[in-house]
Amino acid sequence: MCGIVGYIGKEQAAPILLDGLSKLEYRGYDSAGIAVYDGSEIKVVKSKGRLKVLNELTHDGASMPGTVGIGHTRWATHGAPSDTNAHPHFNKDESIVVVHNGIIENYLKLKKKLIERGYEFCSDTDTEVVVHLLDYYYHGNPLEAIAKVMHRVEGSYAFGIMFADFPGEIYAARKDSPLIVGSAGDGNLIASDVPAILRYTRSVYYIQNQEFVKLTADSMTFYNMDEEEITKTPTKIEWDINAAEKGGYEHFMLKEIYEQPGAVRDTFSPRLKDGKIVIEELGMTDEEILSVKKIHIVACGSAYHTGMTCKYVFEGLARIPVEVDLASEFRYRDPILEKDTLVVIISQSGETADSLAALREAKSKGSRVLAIVNVIGSSIAREADNVMYTWAGPEIAVATTKAYSTQLIAQYLLALKFAQVRETIGEKEFGEMLTDIERLPEQIEMLLGNKEKIQKFANRYLGARDVFFIGRGIDYAISMEASLKLKETSYIHSEACAAGELKHGTISLIEEGTLVSAVLTQDHLFPKMISNIVEVRTRGAFVMAVTNVGNVEIEKNVDYVIYIPKTNPYFTNSLAIIPLQLFAYYISIGRGCDVDKPRNLAKSVTVE
Ligand code: M6R
Repeated sequence: MCGIVGYIGKEQAAPILLDGLSKLEYRGYDSAGIAVYDGSEIKVVKSKGRLKVLNELTHDGASMPGTVGIGHTRWATHGAPSDTNAHPHFNKDESIVVVHNGIIENYLKLKKKLIERGYEFCSDTDTEVVVHLLDYYYHGNPLEAIAKVMHRVEGSYAFGIMFADFPGEIYAARKDSPLIVGSAGDGNLIASDVPAILRYTRSVYYIQNQEFVKLTADSMTFYNMDEEEITKTPTKIEWDINAAEKGGYEHFMLKEIYEQPGAVRDTFSPRLKDGKIVIEELGMTDEEILSVKKIHIVACGSAYHTGMTCKYVFEGLARIPVEVDLASEFRYRDPILEKDTLVVIISQSGETADSLAALREAKSKGSRVLAIVNVIGSSIAREADNVMYTWAGPEIAVATTKAYSTQLIAQYLLALKFAQVRETIGEKEFGEMLTDIERLPEQIEMLLGNKEKIQKFANRYLGARDVFFIGRGIDYAISMEASLKLKETSYIHSEACAAGELKHGTISLIEEGTLVSAVLTQDHLFPKMISNIVEVRTRGAFVMAVTNVGNVEIEKNVDYVIYIPKTNPYFTNSLAIIPLQLFAYYISIGRGCDVDKPRNLAKSVTVE
């Protein structure tokens, strides 16, 4: 979604802002702009479209001199993508300028009042009320004006603010939308996400809800909404800077697909000690684990799909009933949560608005909340009772791959830990399963070796209109993810269908030449899947199967096969998804799509 960067210091601000915004491009945006104080006034340049346009308009920042500035990439919510709706937004006399991430929910009410007081609006954005409200409350004291605005606005926000009267200062405020501050030696920075400022600093301060900060070139002062100073300690960011760069790959998505063996290993290896699973951050004693009677897994998008898979793993191994919910549904359905229910929120970004709201809903009902999160210090990580981090490193491509794979691993470990404590699996089985997990990185590596074969196959389907993914059990959950990967990156319509459900409706869409991808990694469901494959082939489908090595009899029934190495049936998702990710990637680039930044999508969905 939207991105914010701000700089104040000794260097020229505009190139730093443009560079920072380029690191946030992956979040998704449709316009961009920067504001720089040039020594006598604040200048704004903004434009619809990609950052390239802004770079051209500002001659890569050279035509906007000044050492203080704020910048923004906008993902349209209120008002279409346009030059006018792009941020930053000025007040009437151009003495205050604001960039904003989030949504001001009471903006219509505020707008009406401001219009009654003579304010004129030129954009359709909710953000414009913020700058006029600042103007209304500003009587020479920025702190007072910002605090008053924070009391008046409802919804979510991260603001970057400059006052022409105080050209040596930048202000930033936050509620429910990420905001960090970093010190860069010869200046200070604000940003909505770590990659924007990673090049300049590794030491960041997280602004919490309803806090704000004043930056000068050599100081930062933090405040609560009562304008009282508060102290903060910095967090050290361990991410390798190269991890946020393409490193020779054509696209982030391909790079991240290739990083999966390492990310998977980094997620399990610190938690496997002397043949045991040690998850210290779980913060649960064996007695507490034994007292859990039910698990609710709540997430969005691909993270939800990992929950769909791991429902089978938890129920099969630990014999605990599991419900899996989409966060956007869970938060409004008044879920029944007992004291002995564990709620597991899964999120790569840790900032997904619906997942965060679901977490709060669960906590308000007294449930213990465990978060499985990738971004350290993110909102979900901070608000959960316990956090289990996935060690995927920064994921830049909008379509998740390596974070997805590490979310699976974190849940396998959790399920095995619960199974061991609850004595629902034997020592031998437990040991064999750990060995299977340890072999996954090298098996993923093997599958990645087949990329040319998959690219060739994908090239035959660049013109497909519809693709169907079918499977049963875990294979249905894999199909859901494969289908999402394909549609979000290539814009081809695709659907996942539980294979047994085909004849209840979806089979009517199968016609001569329709591509159906069948996933068959569960031996006990193999004969049933073959029947479903026969049904679609009879109606003209071209069937590509993903199945376990050794299942050669499948070749009689399908048109194309991808074999995955042998692993425990509970872990097959970690392998079967790899060729399907590659398939989506190659279809997308073959069709000329912007694979890393698909249209209309954002990397972290921080608004509802
Ligand atoms: O950051 P999160 O894991 O909470 O994000 C959840 C979804 O928005 C995300 O998985 C989305 O579906 C991806 N585009 C899938 O590739």
